[in-house]
Amino acid sequence: MDFYYENYGLTSTYDVLQNLHLYIVIDTIMYWFVVILRTPQSLVAGLMWIGSTNGRYSMRHVCQDSDELKTYGWTEHNGRDYGHQVLVDQEMTLQTSFLKSKEHGSSYGGDWAVRIEVENDEAKLIEEMSRSIHLFFYVADENGSALNLGSGAADFDDDSILASGYQRDIGNWQLQLNTEDEFEFHYSGFRTPYIHNLSDLVQANLGTQARKVGRLQLSDTSDDSSNILVFQLSARIPFKADIIFLSGTLAQKERVISLAGASLTNRLSEKQKEFADKFQRCFNLSDELDSESVTMGKAALGNLLGGIGYFYGRSKIALPDSPNIKRGDNFISYWPAELYSAVPSRPFFPRGFLWDEGFHQLLIWRWDIHICLDIIGHWLDLMNVDGWIPREQILGAEALSKVPEEFVLQHPTNGNPPTLFLVLRDVICSIKTNTFTAAESNGISVFLDRAFLRLEGWFKWFNTTQSGKSVSGYFWHGRDNTTTRELNPKTLSSGLDDYPRASHPSEDERHLDLRCWMHLAADCLQSISELLEKENEHGKEYKSTAKLLSDFELLNQMHFDDVYGAYFDYGNHTEEVRLTWQVVEKVNSYPSRELIREVLEKPVLRLVPHIGYVSLFPLMSRLIPPGSWILEKQLDLISNRSTLWTNFGLRSLSKTSSVYMKRNTEHDPPYWRGPIWMNMNYRILSALHYYSREDGPYREQAKRIYDDLRNNLIRNVVGNYYQTGYIWEQYDQQKGKGKGARLFTGWTSLVLLIMAEKYNEC
Ligand SMILES: *[C@@H]1O[C@H](CO)[C@@H](O)[C@H](O)[C@H]1NC(C)=O
Ligand SMILES: *[C@@H]1O[C@H](CO)[C@@H](O)[C@H](O)[C@H]1NC(C)=O
Ligand SMILES: *[C@@H]1O[C@H](CO)[C@@H](O)[C@H](O)[C@H]1NC(C)=O
Ligand SMILES: *[C@@H]1O[C@H](CO)[C@@H](O)[C@H](O)[C@H]1NC(C)=O
Ligand SMILES: *[C@@H]1O[C@H](CO)[C@@H](O)[C@H](O)[C@H]1NC(C)=O
Ligand SMILES: *[C@@H]1O[C@H](CO)[C@@H](O)[C@H](O)[C@H]1NC(C)=O
Ligand SMILES: *[C@@H]1O[C@H](CO)[C@@H](O)[C@H](O)[C@H]1NC(C)=O
Repeated sequence: MDFYYENYGLTSTYDVLQNLHLYIVIDTIMYWFVVILRTPQSLVAGLMWIGSTNGRYSMRHVCQDSDELKTYGWTEHNGRDYGHQVLVDQEMTLQTSFLKSKEHGSSYGGDWAVRIEVENDEAKLIEEMSRSIHLFFYVADENGSALNLGSGAADFDDDSILASGYQRDIGNWQLQLNTEDEFEFHYSGFRTPYIHNLSDLVQANLGTQARKVGRLQLSDTSDDSSNILVFQLSARIPFKADIIFLSGTLAQKERVISLAGASLTNRLSEKQKEFADKFQRCFNLSDELDSESVTMGKAALGNLLGGIGYFYGRSKIALPDSPNIKRGDNFISYWPAELYSAVPSRPFFPRGFLWDEGFHQLLIWRWDIHICLDIIGHWLDLMNVDGWIPREQILGAEALSKVPEEFVLQHPTNGNPPTLFLVLRDVICSIKTNTFTAAESNGISVFLDRAFLRLEGWFKWFNTTQSGKSVSGYFWHGRDNTTTRELNPKTLSSGLDDYPRASHPSEDERHLDLRCWMHLAADCLQSISELLEKENEHGKEYKSTAKLLSDFELLNQMHFDDVYGAYFDYGNHTEEVRLTWQVVEKVNSYPSRELIREVLEKPVLRLVPHIGYVSLFPLMSRLIPPGSWILEKQLDLISNRSTLWTNFGLRSLSKTSSVYMKRNTEHDPPYWRGPIWMNMNYRILSALHYYSREDGPYREQAKRIYDDLRNNLIRNVVGNYYQTGYIWEQYDQQKGKGKGARLFTGWTSLVLLIMAEKYNEC
């Protein structure tokens, strides 16, 4: 059964783009600050410093919550060649500014410079130890090639070259330091293939030295085999230094000068202005928004773009005959693959997620269509011959180190919402409305032509493997039909994890959200066929499928409940289930008390009466005619405080649902059972915006709800940002408080599109 290994055997989708200028990535996904090349086994440069948490000093390196930074993130970032990050560690503020530059003579991704500025909050009483900083800047060849220590390491007055070397993709390179501030300098060389725990080696070296010389300083040793060089700069705060990386033809003094000191200051402020201008052009935020909201909007965009990373490795695929194996040994490896992807959250989800990506790109394409297509192309290249794409990309040892075991294996029987079609639909719409230049439109067509076979493959995979028993009925595979632990067996493949479905998973199920995703995909493929003039070959089939899936009568027959006035899933269901503590006998062990599901009534085939995000999918897909009374019912459900409405956005699940805010197991708190999520709120707003502009009896009502919902969402996310320093994964439906992962600048960044009122316009 080799076919799981095979990719499409087609030329890569993304390299048609030749986005060479994107080949250096400021990779702050895993780390507080790191620069890498967008190739496997690349050259890596990064920053560490010593900080203190609860009186204990530790090395800051990997981006993690336990370091307890008060706030951090990119206040600006253009996704290409400029970014500015602020990190607040206790009383100390570090700023890292990044500039990439394609100078005459530079090779591959170009030259770059990083400015590091450290300041203290002078208003606070600061202990002597905190008045100085130990910065550690390193450069590493992941492929293991030895690096040369520069002469600057011995004597700063003459020459400030810290290190140099040769790398296959960039040729010769060198790293220079430039600062006017006083500092003490030390260094050390290491040989290791691992970057993620480099701080352990550095700390060990410092420990040994401290015992020897009684000071916190590196050993000033390195040998011919070192593939990592670490430079320690110890200085009084405030301190400022520029680090410059040159590639290609070296030894041009002007190039260094232009990337350091006053010249760097000027170039950074030009970039900052460019960013502000482009932000204004792209989002055209209206004057009614206050400056706090605008600043947060820039941070939302900056962090989304600053959260784009490059990954390389092999996914682990569960063997098809044993879908429930959790042990991790029954898998095969996918082919080694590259992924360029925006991550949902640097500290918590530092890897690619398929369904999140579509929402990320709704924002990114409006900022930079090239970056967007590059990312979509990478995802499509991950498709196997069946048309399946693994939904969570855990590529490489570093990514693996952050994932709970149960989520590691990818199941080739299970899907994930094809959200990339949301983006392609928007992009095609914008071609039609002439938003792009002719060259851009042409580039997009070339890309779509290259991508078309894969997009079709993707659709067909869903249309065959996830179809249900009835025509136009679909269901998410992968629910556990044997568990007795879960209140309502999870539907991870849908993206909505614990959102309640039929109590008893079966092949009779029909999932409303998947049906609507299928409509989107068919409709989008039809538009692409038209655009590429493939109409005769392919267009007709998509047209008829899209027509079938948008048939209002059929939709209502299959999913509408007259009593509730709501759209529901269908399946083998009873409301009479509950979790109770029971004593479970065990072989070779003591009995234990566990939460077990009790079923108090025989399930039957019926509509599944939970009102929430899934119920609103037909509205999001604009399948309800503007004149229909059903539209009014949907508006009622949205605006009713007893069901979905709160002052902070719409709940994921109605207060009236039998599993509202219920735990799924002892260890599984409610996730999509009440809290407010931005991706779905964005789609609902987009639909309300649409209905508030279509002629019909409910137009005014839609407009009122739209305005209120939009204001609530913006106010709450902005308020939380200023109170806590962070943008959050979800928001509590009672008080509006940020919840879950913080610095979640994946789809929560869609709040910027909400501020800008940018939705699908076709
Ligand atoms: C990595 O090293 C191997 C052997 O040492 C070499 O063949 C290969 O070209 C190197 N790769 C890069 C990216 O430098
Ligand atoms: C770093 O991590 C790797 C595995 O990821 C491990 O083999 C190695 O021993 C670790 N090194 C240190 C210094 O902890
Ligand atoms: C920007 O928004 C204003 C209204 O706030 C509008 O009048 C103007 O046309 C918009 N400009 C662009 C370029 O969309
Ligand atoms: C669970 O689903 C599998 C696959 O569809 C099926 O073979 C099995 O009979 C089902 N088990 C129960 C208890 O329904
Ligand atoms: C999707 O599947 C249905 C049912 O098998 C089929 O009638 C339809 O033609 C398929 N659509 C496409 C575009 O392949
Ligand atoms: C519904 O689930 C129950 C319990 O598993 C089962 O006995 C019954 O056959 C199922 N009904 C249908 C129509 O699948
Ligand atoms: C709001 O929803 C509750 C619960 O379903 C219902 O009892 C009430 O009548 C609804 N209110 C309005 C104004 O529709």
